[in-house]
Amino acid sequence: MFAQCLCRSLRRLAPVLAAGFPWFAAAQSDFQGATHMVPFEEDTISYNKTPSTGPVARLQTRLDRGEIKLTFDPKTGWRDSLLAALSVSPKSQTLVFSKTSLQRERIAPQTPRSVFFNDEVYIGWIPGAPVMEFSEVDPKLGGVFYTLEQTESDKPKFVRNNQCLECHASAKTMGIPGHLIRSFKTDEQGIIDLITGVSEVNHRTPLEDRWGGWYVTGTHGKVTHRGNLYGKTAFLKAEEKPNYLGNLTSLKPLVDLTDYANPTSDIVALMVLEHEAHMHNYLTRLHYETQMSLSRYQHIRYLRSMAEGFLKYLLFMEETPLKAKVKGTSGYADYFASLGPKDHRGRSFRQFDLESRLFKYPCSFLIYSEAFDLLPKPMREHLLQRLHEILTGQDTSPEFAGLSADRRKAILEILLDTKPNLPGYWRGEAPRAEAPAIPETVR
Ligand code: HEC
Repeated sequence: MFAQCLCRSLRRLAPVLAAGFPWFAAAQSDFQGATHMVPFEEDTISYNKTPSTGPVARLQTRLDRGEIKLTFDPKTGWRDSLLAALSVSPKSQTLVFSKTSLQRERIAPQTPRSVFFNDEVYIGWIPGAPVMEFSEVDPKLGGVFYTLEQTESDKPKFVRNNQCLECHASAKTMGIPGHLIRSFKTDEQGIIDLITGVSEVNHRTPLEDRWGGWYVTGTHGKVTHRGNLYGKTAFLKAEEKPNYLGNLTSLKPLVDLTDYANPTSDIVALMVLEHEAHMHNYLTRLHYETQMSLSRYQHIRYLRSMAEGFLKYLLFMEETPLKAKVKGTSGYADYFASLGPKDHRGRSFRQFDLESRLFKYPCSFLIYSEAFDLLPKPMREHLLQRLHEILTGQDTSPEFAGLSADRRKAILEILLDTKPNLPGYWRGEAPRAEAPAIPETVR
Protein backbone atom coordinates (compact mmCIF):
# COMPACT_ATOMS: atom_id res chain seq x y z
CA MET A 1 0.00 0.00 0.00
CA PHE A 2 2.67 2.42 1.10
CA ALA A 3 4.88 1.41 -1.81
CA GLN A 4 1.98 2.03 -4.17
CA CYS A 5 1.39 5.53 -2.75
CA LEU A 6 5.05 6.33 -2.96
CA CYS A 7 5.14 5.17 -6.54
CA ARG A 8 2.16 7.29 -7.46
CA SER A 9 3.51 10.43 -5.84
CA LEU A 10 6.88 9.86 -7.49
CA ARG A 11 5.17 9.56 -10.83
CA ARG A 12 3.32 12.81 -10.17
CA LEU A 13 6.58 14.46 -9.17
CA ALA A 14 8.44 13.17 -12.22
CA PRO A 15 7.78 16.11 -14.55
CA VAL A 16 8.84 18.55 -11.83
CA LEU A 17 12.01 16.60 -11.13
CA ALA A 18 12.71 16.16 -14.80
CA ALA A 19 12.55 19.90 -15.37
CA GLY A 20 15.21 20.58 -12.75
CA PHE A 21 17.33 17.48 -13.27
CA PRO A 22 17.48 16.35 -16.90
CA TRP A 23 19.07 13.00 -16.02
CA PHE A 24 16.00 12.15 -13.92
CA ALA A 25 13.85 12.22 -17.04
CA ALA A 26 16.38 10.05 -18.81
CA ALA A 27 16.63 7.51 -15.99
CA GLN A 28 12.85 7.39 -15.95
CA SER A 29 12.56 6.15 -19.47
CA ASP A 30 14.76 3.09 -18.86
CA PHE A 31 12.41 1.15 -16.62
CA GLN A 32 9.74 3.64 -15.62
CA GLY A 33 12.10 4.51 -12.80
CA ALA A 34 12.26 0.93 -11.46
CA THR A 35 15.80 -0.02 -10.53
CA HIS A 36 15.01 -2.94 -8.22
CA MET A 37 17.56 -5.72 -8.01
CA VAL A 38 17.02 -8.67 -10.30
CA PRO A 39 17.30 -11.94 -8.31
CA PHE A 40 20.37 -13.06 -10.23
CA GLU A 41 21.49 -15.63 -7.64
CA GLU A 42 18.30 -17.65 -8.10
CA ASP A 43 18.00 -20.60 -10.44
CA THR A 44 17.01 -18.88 -13.68
CA ILE A 45 20.21 -16.81 -13.87
CA SER A 46 22.35 -18.58 -11.28
CA TYR A 47 25.05 -15.92 -11.61
CA ASN A 48 27.57 -17.32 -9.16
CA LYS A 49 27.35 -20.96 -10.18
CA THR A 50 27.67 -20.29 -13.89
CA PRO A 51 31.17 -20.16 -15.37
CA SER A 52 31.89 -17.12 -17.50
CA THR A 53 32.85 -17.30 -21.17
CA GLY A 54 34.04 -13.70 -21.40
CA PRO A 55 37.46 -12.50 -22.60
CA VAL A 56 39.19 -12.83 -19.21
CA ALA A 57 37.91 -16.39 -18.75
CA ARG A 58 39.09 -17.21 -22.28
CA LEU A 59 42.52 -15.69 -21.61
CA GLN A 60 42.83 -17.77 -18.42
CA THR A 61 42.17 -20.93 -20.44
CA ARG A 62 44.86 -19.97 -22.95
CA LEU A 63 47.31 -19.21 -20.12
CA ASP A 64 46.55 -22.55 -18.44
CA ARG A 65 47.14 -24.41 -21.70
CA GLY A 66 50.44 -22.57 -22.22
CA GLU A 67 49.20 -21.05 -25.50
CA ILE A 68 50.14 -17.55 -24.39
CA LYS A 69 52.58 -16.06 -21.92
CA LEU A 70 52.32 -12.75 -20.09
CA THR A 71 55.34 -10.66 -19.19
CA PHE A 72 55.75 -8.92 -15.87
CA ASP A 73 57.33 -5.48 -15.62
CA PRO A 74 58.83 -4.55 -12.23
CA LYS A 75 57.21 -1.08 -12.37
CA THR A 76 53.88 -1.61 -14.05
CA GLY A 77 53.31 -5.32 -13.43
CA TRP A 78 51.15 -7.22 -15.92
CA ARG A 79 49.53 -4.07 -17.33
CA ASP A 80 51.06 -3.67 -20.78
CA SER A 81 51.28 -7.36 -21.51
CA LEU A 82 47.61 -7.77 -20.53
CA LEU A 83 46.45 -4.86 -22.63
CA ALA A 84 48.05 -6.58 -25.62
CA ALA A 85 46.70 -10.04 -24.71
CA LEU A 86 43.16 -8.71 -24.33
CA SER A 87 43.41 -6.45 -27.43
CA VAL A 88 42.77 -3.29 -25.46
CA SER A 89 44.36 -0.10 -26.80
CA PRO A 90 46.38 2.00 -24.32
CA LYS A 91 44.78 4.96 -26.10
CA SER A 92 41.50 4.05 -24.40
CA GLN A 93 42.95 5.09 -21.04
CA THR A 94 40.79 7.30 -18.84
CA LEU A 95 41.91 8.43 -15.39
CA VAL A 96 39.67 8.54 -12.32
CA PHE A 97 40.87 9.94 -9.00
CA SER A 98 37.77 9.64 -6.84
CA LYS A 99 38.22 7.04 -4.13
CA THR A 100 35.76 4.47 -5.40
CA SER A 101 37.04 0.89 -5.48
CA LEU A 102 38.05 -1.97 -3.21
CA GLN A 103 41.50 -0.37 -3.40
CA ARG A 104 40.21 3.08 -2.56
CA GLU A 105 43.15 4.00 -0.32
CA ARG A 106 45.47 3.72 -3.33
CA ILE A 107 43.49 6.13 -5.50
CA ALA A 108 44.04 9.89 -5.22
CA PRO A 109 44.46 12.90 -7.48
CA GLN A 110 48.23 12.21 -7.49
CA THR A 111 47.76 8.47 -8.20
CA PRO A 112 44.61 8.15 -10.31
CA ARG A 113 43.29 4.80 -11.47
CA SER A 114 43.64 4.05 -15.18
CA VAL A 115 40.54 2.52 -16.74
CA PHE A 116 41.15 0.93 -20.14
CA PHE A 117 38.42 -0.71 -22.21
CA ASN A 118 37.35 -2.29 -25.47
CA ASP A 119 33.94 -3.66 -26.53
CA GLU A 120 33.97 -6.49 -23.99
CA VAL A 121 36.37 -5.82 -21.13
CA TYR A 122 37.27 -3.01 -18.74
CA ILE A 123 40.63 -2.96 -16.94
CA GLY A 124 41.61 -1.00 -13.83
CA TRP A 125 45.25 -0.29 -12.97
CA ILE A 126 46.59 1.79 -10.09
CA PRO A 127 50.35 2.38 -9.70
CA GLY A 128 51.80 0.18 -6.94
CA ALA A 129 48.46 -1.46 -6.09
CA PRO A 130 48.51 -5.15 -5.05
CA VAL A 131 45.94 -6.20 -7.66
CA MET A 132 44.65 -5.22 -11.08
CA GLU A 133 40.88 -5.10 -11.50
CA PHE A 134 38.80 -6.40 -14.40
CA SER A 135 35.17 -6.34 -15.36
CA GLU A 136 34.37 -8.40 -18.41
CA VAL A 137 31.18 -8.68 -20.40
CA ASP A 138 29.83 -12.19 -20.46
CA PRO A 139 27.05 -12.32 -23.07
CA LYS A 140 24.73 -14.16 -20.67
CA LEU A 141 25.88 -13.21 -17.17
CA GLY A 142 26.63 -9.54 -17.71
CA GLY A 143 29.49 -8.00 -15.73
CA VAL A 144 31.89 -10.56 -14.25
CA PHE A 145 34.58 -9.25 -11.91
CA TYR A 146 38.14 -10.41 -11.34
CA THR A 147 41.34 -9.40 -9.66
CA LEU A 148 44.85 -10.42 -10.65
CA GLU A 149 47.74 -10.19 -8.18
CA GLN A 150 50.47 -7.87 -9.28
CA THR A 151 53.31 -10.26 -8.39
CA GLU A 152 55.56 -12.07 -10.83
CA SER A 153 54.48 -15.66 -11.40
CA ASP A 154 54.61 -18.40 -14.02
CA LYS A 155 50.91 -18.97 -13.56
CA PRO A 156 49.05 -15.67 -13.31
CA LYS A 157 45.55 -16.38 -11.98
CA PHE A 158 42.45 -14.22 -12.45
CA VAL A 159 40.24 -14.64 -9.40
CA ARG A 160 36.50 -14.10 -9.77
CA ASN A 161 35.62 -11.75 -6.96
CA ASN A 162 32.06 -11.29 -5.80
CA GLN A 163 32.95 -8.69 -3.20
CA CYS A 164 32.96 -6.30 -6.12
CA LEU A 165 29.19 -6.73 -6.42
CA GLU A 166 28.75 -4.71 -3.22
CA CYS A 167 29.03 -1.70 -5.50
CA HIS A 168 28.77 -3.27 -8.95
CA ALA A 169 25.27 -4.73 -8.48
CA SER A 170 22.92 -2.05 -7.25
CA ALA A 171 20.26 0.39 -8.37
CA LYS A 172 23.13 2.32 -9.97
CA THR A 173 23.91 -0.59 -12.29
CA MET A 174 20.27 -1.26 -13.29
CA GLY A 175 19.92 -3.89 -10.57
CA ILE A 176 22.28 -6.37 -12.26
CA PRO A 177 26.02 -7.11 -11.99
CA GLY A 178 27.34 -4.34 -14.18
CA HIS A 179 29.44 -1.30 -14.77
CA LEU A 180 29.57 2.00 -12.96
CA ILE A 181 30.50 5.40 -14.26
CA ARG A 182 29.84 8.33 -11.96
CA SER A 183 30.56 12.02 -11.62
CA PHE A 184 31.05 13.41 -8.14
CA LYS A 185 32.97 16.39 -6.86
CA THR A 186 35.84 15.35 -4.59
CA ASP A 187 38.10 16.97 -2.03
CA GLU A 188 41.92 17.20 -2.34
CA GLN A 189 42.28 13.52 -1.39
CA GLY A 190 39.70 12.30 -3.88
CA ILE A 191 36.99 11.63 -1.27
CA ILE A 192 33.65 12.16 -2.93
CA ASP A 193 30.99 14.61 -1.88
CA LEU A 194 27.87 12.47 -2.10
CA ILE A 195 25.48 15.39 -2.47
CA THR A 196 26.86 16.76 -5.70
CA GLY A 197 26.81 14.07 -8.27
CA VAL A 198 25.39 11.98 -11.01
CA SER A 199 25.61 8.33 -10.12
CA GLU A 200 24.91 6.93 -13.57
CA VAL A 201 26.66 8.83 -16.33
CA ASN A 202 25.79 7.85 -19.90
CA HIS A 203 25.37 9.51 -23.29
CA ARG A 204 22.32 11.39 -22.03
CA THR A 205 24.21 13.21 -19.27
CA PRO A 206 24.99 16.86 -20.16
CA LEU A 207 28.73 17.48 -20.40
CA GLU A 208 28.37 20.16 -17.72
CA ASP A 209 27.53 17.40 -15.21
CA ARG A 210 30.22 14.93 -16.25
CA TRP A 211 33.68 13.97 -15.08
CA GLY A 212 33.62 14.98 -11.43
CA GLY A 213 36.45 12.84 -9.99
CA TRP A 214 38.06 12.26 -13.41
CA TYR A 215 40.87 13.83 -15.35
CA VAL A 216 39.98 14.97 -18.85
CA THR A 217 42.32 15.80 -21.73
CA GLY A 218 40.90 17.33 -24.86
CA THR A 219 39.16 20.44 -26.07
CA HIS A 220 35.46 21.26 -25.87
CA GLY A 221 35.07 24.97 -26.63
CA LYS A 222 32.99 27.03 -24.24
CA VAL A 223 31.18 24.07 -22.72
CA THR A 224 32.22 23.41 -19.11
CA HIS A 225 32.59 20.12 -17.22
CA ARG A 226 33.63 19.00 -13.74
CA GLY A 227 36.82 17.19 -14.71
CA ASN A 228 40.33 18.07 -13.49
CA LEU A 229 38.91 19.78 -10.39
CA TYR A 230 39.28 18.69 -6.78
CA GLY A 231 39.01 20.57 -3.52
CA LYS A 232 36.84 23.55 -2.64
CA THR A 233 39.24 26.20 -3.93
CA ALA A 234 39.38 24.68 -7.39
CA PHE A 235 35.59 24.52 -7.67
CA LEU A 236 35.23 28.12 -6.46
CA LYS A 237 37.80 29.23 -9.03
CA ALA A 238 35.95 27.34 -11.75
CA GLU A 239 32.78 29.19 -10.81
CA GLU A 240 34.51 32.54 -11.27
CA LYS A 241 36.41 31.51 -14.35
CA PRO A 242 34.56 28.78 -16.25
CA ASN A 243 36.89 26.23 -17.82
CA TYR A 244 39.83 27.35 -15.74
CA LEU A 245 40.95 23.72 -15.87
CA GLY A 246 38.95 22.85 -18.99
CA ASN A 247 40.29 22.42 -22.53
CA LEU A 248 43.52 20.87 -21.19
CA THR A 249 45.66 19.09 -23.74
CA SER A 250 48.20 18.04 -21.12
CA LEU A 251 47.87 17.06 -17.46
CA LYS A 252 51.51 17.90 -16.72
CA PRO A 253 50.74 20.87 -14.47
CA LEU A 254 48.38 18.71 -12.39
CA VAL A 255 49.86 15.23 -12.00
CA ASP A 256 52.99 13.20 -12.73
CA LEU A 257 51.98 10.38 -15.09
CA THR A 258 55.47 8.99 -15.83
CA ASP A 259 54.59 5.37 -15.08
CA TYR A 260 51.23 5.44 -16.81
CA ALA A 261 50.54 3.82 -20.19
CA ASN A 262 50.19 7.33 -21.61
CA PRO A 263 49.71 10.83 -20.23
CA THR A 264 46.07 11.24 -21.28
CA SER A 265 42.50 10.79 -20.10
CA ASP A 266 41.01 11.27 -23.51
CA ILE A 267 37.68 13.10 -23.71
CA VAL A 268 36.46 10.98 -26.64
CA ALA A 269 37.45 7.74 -24.86
CA LEU A 270 35.47 8.97 -21.84
CA MET A 271 32.39 9.61 -23.96
CA VAL A 272 32.54 6.19 -25.61
CA LEU A 273 33.11 4.53 -22.23
CA GLU A 274 30.02 6.22 -20.84
CA HIS A 275 27.82 5.23 -23.76
CA GLU A 276 29.12 1.68 -23.61
CA ALA A 277 28.91 0.95 -19.87
CA HIS A 278 25.21 1.84 -19.78
CA MET A 279 24.59 -0.13 -22.97
CA HIS A 280 26.21 -3.22 -21.44
CA ASN A 281 24.09 -2.86 -18.31
CA TYR A 282 20.97 -2.48 -20.42
CA LEU A 283 21.78 -5.60 -22.45
CA THR A 284 22.31 -7.62 -19.29
CA ARG A 285 19.09 -6.41 -17.70
CA LEU A 286 17.18 -7.23 -20.87
CA HIS A 287 18.80 -10.67 -21.00
CA TYR A 288 17.91 -11.45 -17.38
CA GLU A 289 14.36 -10.15 -17.66
CA THR A 290 13.79 -12.14 -20.85
CA GLN A 291 15.06 -15.35 -19.27
CA MET A 292 12.86 -14.86 -16.23
CA SER A 293 9.83 -13.94 -18.28
CA LEU A 294 10.22 -16.96 -20.54
CA SER A 295 10.64 -19.25 -17.58
CA ARG A 296 7.62 -17.80 -15.75
CA TYR A 297 5.16 -17.05 -18.56
CA GLN A 298 6.67 -18.63 -21.70
CA HIS A 299 6.38 -15.27 -23.45
CA ILE A 300 7.92 -11.79 -23.27
CA ARG A 301 4.81 -9.65 -23.70
CA TYR A 302 5.31 -7.77 -20.44
CA LEU A 303 8.72 -6.57 -21.55
CA ARG A 304 7.47 -4.35 -24.31
CA SER A 305 8.24 -0.99 -22.74
CA MET A 306 11.65 -2.18 -21.60
CA ALA A 307 12.48 -3.23 -25.16
CA GLU A 308 11.32 0.17 -26.46
CA GLY A 309 13.51 1.92 -23.88
CA PHE A 310 16.44 -0.20 -24.98
CA LEU A 311 15.90 0.71 -28.65
CA LYS A 312 15.78 4.38 -27.72
CA TYR A 313 19.16 4.04 -26.05
CA LEU A 314 20.55 1.96 -28.91
CA LEU A 315 19.55 4.70 -31.36
CA PHE A 316 20.79 7.58 -29.14
CA MET A 317 17.30 9.11 -29.03
CA GLU A 318 17.89 11.12 -25.86
CA GLU A 319 21.56 11.81 -26.35
CA THR A 320 22.70 15.12 -24.93
CA PRO A 321 23.47 17.48 -27.83
CA LEU A 322 27.06 18.70 -28.06
CA LYS A 323 27.22 22.47 -28.04
CA ALA A 324 30.82 22.77 -29.20
CA LYS A 325 33.36 20.73 -31.10
CA VAL A 326 35.03 18.02 -29.03
CA LYS A 327 38.56 16.77 -29.75
CA GLY A 328 40.66 14.23 -27.87
CA THR A 329 44.41 14.01 -27.31
CA SER A 330 45.39 10.33 -27.36
CA GLY A 331 44.47 9.39 -30.91
CA TYR A 332 41.69 7.21 -29.52
CA ALA A 333 39.08 8.62 -31.93
CA ASP A 334 41.08 7.62 -35.03
CA TYR A 335 41.89 4.23 -33.56
CA PHE A 336 38.28 3.51 -32.62
CA ALA A 337 36.87 4.72 -35.94
CA SER A 338 39.30 2.45 -37.82
CA LEU A 339 37.82 -0.67 -36.22
CA GLY A 340 34.72 -0.71 -38.42
CA PRO A 341 32.96 -2.72 -39.76
CA LYS A 342 32.36 -0.40 -42.71
CA ASP A 343 29.72 -0.65 -45.38
CA HIS A 344 30.56 -0.55 -49.09
CA ARG A 345 30.47 3.26 -48.96
CA GLY A 346 32.93 3.35 -46.05
CA ARG A 347 30.29 4.26 -43.44
CA SER A 348 30.35 2.78 -39.95
CA PHE A 349 28.71 3.15 -36.55
CA ARG A 350 32.13 3.95 -35.11
CA GLN A 351 32.50 7.09 -37.22
CA PHE A 352 32.45 10.15 -35.00
CA ASP A 353 30.60 13.41 -35.44
CA LEU A 354 31.86 15.23 -32.30
CA GLU A 355 30.30 18.54 -33.31
CA SER A 356 26.64 18.17 -32.52
CA ARG A 357 26.60 14.57 -31.26
CA LEU A 358 28.92 11.67 -30.49
CA PHE A 359 28.54 9.47 -33.59
CA LYS A 360 27.72 10.31 -37.17
CA TYR A 361 25.24 7.45 -37.54
CA PRO A 362 23.39 7.09 -34.24
CA CYS A 363 23.15 3.35 -33.73
CA SER A 364 25.35 1.71 -31.11
CA PHE A 365 28.32 -0.31 -32.39
CA LEU A 366 27.40 -2.82 -29.68
CA ILE A 367 24.69 -4.07 -32.01
CA TYR A 368 27.54 -6.24 -33.34
CA SER A 369 28.40 -7.59 -29.88
CA GLU A 370 27.85 -11.12 -28.65
CA ALA A 371 25.79 -9.65 -25.83
CA PHE A 372 23.25 -8.47 -28.42
CA ASP A 373 23.44 -11.51 -30.67
CA LEU A 374 23.06 -13.95 -27.78
CA LEU A 375 19.96 -12.32 -26.30
CA PRO A 376 17.32 -15.04 -25.96
CA LYS A 377 15.78 -15.61 -29.39
CA PRO A 378 12.29 -14.13 -28.82
CA MET A 379 13.83 -10.88 -27.55
CA ARG A 380 16.44 -10.66 -30.30
CA GLU A 381 13.74 -11.27 -32.92
CA HIS A 382 11.44 -8.71 -31.37
CA LEU A 383 14.16 -6.04 -31.26
CA LEU A 384 15.15 -6.66 -34.88
CA GLN A 385 11.52 -6.48 -35.92
CA ARG A 386 10.96 -3.17 -34.16
CA LEU A 387 14.25 -1.83 -35.45
CA HIS A 388 13.22 -2.72 -38.99
CA GLU A 389 9.90 -0.91 -38.51
CA ILE A 390 11.66 2.17 -37.17
CA LEU A 391 14.37 2.29 -39.83
CA THR A 392 11.99 1.73 -42.75
CA GLY A 393 9.66 4.48 -41.49
CA GLN A 394 6.74 2.09 -40.82
CA ASP A 395 6.98 3.19 -37.22
CA THR A 396 5.67 6.70 -36.70
CA SER A 397 5.64 6.76 -32.92
CA PRO A 398 6.70 10.01 -31.23
CA GLU A 399 9.51 8.19 -29.37
CA PHE A 400 11.50 7.87 -32.59
CA ALA A 401 10.24 10.98 -34.37
CA GLY A 402 13.58 12.69 -33.73
CA LEU A 403 15.34 10.23 -36.02
CA SER A 404 15.34 11.88 -39.46
CA ALA A 405 14.46 9.93 -42.60
CA ASP A 406 18.04 10.33 -43.84
CA ARG A 407 19.53 8.87 -40.71
CA ARG A 408 17.04 6.00 -40.64
CA LYS A 409 17.99 5.18 -44.21
CA ALA A 410 21.73 5.38 -43.56
CA ILE A 411 21.51 3.13 -40.48
CA LEU A 412 19.40 0.62 -42.39
CA GLU A 413 21.89 0.53 -45.27
CA ILE A 414 24.90 0.17 -42.98
CA LEU A 415 23.23 -2.69 -41.11
CA LEU A 416 22.27 -4.48 -44.32
CA ASP A 417 25.89 -4.31 -45.46
CA THR A 418 27.62 -5.16 -42.20
CA LYS A 419 25.43 -7.27 -39.94
CA PRO A 420 25.22 -10.92 -40.82
CA ASN A 421 22.21 -13.08 -39.96
CA LEU A 422 19.55 -10.40 -40.24
CA PRO A 423 16.12 -11.95 -40.79
CA GLY A 424 15.19 -12.47 -44.45
CA TYR A 425 12.49 -9.76 -44.45
CA TRP A 426 15.21 -7.14 -43.85
CA ARG A 427 16.49 -7.91 -47.33
CA GLY A 428 13.05 -8.29 -48.83
CA GLU A 429 13.86 -11.97 -49.33
CA ALA A 430 10.95 -13.32 -47.40
CA PRO A 431 7.78 -11.91 -45.96
CA ARG A 432 7.85 -11.42 -42.23
CA ALA A 433 6.83 -15.01 -41.71
CA GLU A 434 7.26 -15.52 -38.01
CA ALA A 435 4.47 -14.40 -35.75
CA PRO A 436 5.64 -11.28 -33.96
CA ALA A 437 7.22 -12.19 -30.62
CA ILE A 438 4.94 -9.61 -29.04
CA PRO A 439 1.56 -9.65 -30.82
CA GLU A 440 0.25 -6.25 -31.98
CA THR A 441 -2.75 -6.44 -29.71
CA VAL A 442 -0.68 -6.27 -26.55
CA ARG A 443 1.78 -3.65 -27.77
C1 HEC B 1 33.19 0.80 -3.04
C2 HEC B 1 32.50 0.53 -4.30
C3 HEC B 1 33.25 -0.32 -5.29
C4 HEC B 1 33.74 -1.58 -5.12
C5 HEC B 1 33.66 -2.46 -3.88
C6 HEC B 1 34.32 -1.95 -6.39
N1 HEC B 1 34.17 -0.97 -7.31
FE1 HEC B 1 34.76 -1.00 -9.24
N2 HEC B 1 34.05 0.85 -9.52
C7 HEC B 1 33.39 1.60 -8.57
C8 HEC B 1 33.00 2.87 -9.15
C9 HEC B 1 32.23 3.97 -8.46
C10 HEC B 1 33.46 2.84 -10.47
C11 HEC B 1 33.34 3.97 -11.52
C12 HEC B 1 34.59 4.76 -11.58
C13 HEC B 1 34.72 5.66 -10.41
O1 HEC B 1 33.90 6.59 -10.27
O2 HEC B 1 35.69 5.42 -9.64
C14 HEC B 1 34.09 1.56 -10.67
C15 HEC B 1 34.64 1.17 -11.87
C16 HEC B 1 35.25 -0.04 -12.08
C17 HEC B 1 35.80 -0.46 -13.35
C18 HEC B 1 35.68 0.30 -14.65
C19 HEC B 1 34.54 -0.26 -15.50
C20 HEC B 1 33.31 -0.69 -14.75
O3 HEC B 1 33.02 -1.90 -14.77
O4 HEC B 1 32.63 0.16 -14.14
C21 HEC B 1 36.34 -1.70 -13.14
C22 HEC B 1 37.08 -2.55 -14.16
C23 HEC B 1 36.11 -2.05 -11.76
N3 HEC B 1 35.45 -1.02 -11.13
C24 HEC B 1 36.48 -3.26 -11.20
C25 HEC B 1 36.19 -3.61 -9.88
C26 HEC B 1 36.56 -4.88 -9.30
C27 HEC B 1 37.26 -6.00 -10.02
C28 HEC B 1 36.15 -4.83 -8.01
C29 HEC B 1 36.32 -5.90 -6.97
C30 HEC B 1 37.65 -6.36 -6.73
C31 HEC B 1 35.51 -3.53 -7.79
N4 HEC B 1 35.55 -2.83 -8.95
C32 HEC B 1 34.95 -3.15 -6.60
C33 HEC B 1 33.12 1.25 -7.26
C34 HEC B 1 33.51 0.06 -6.68
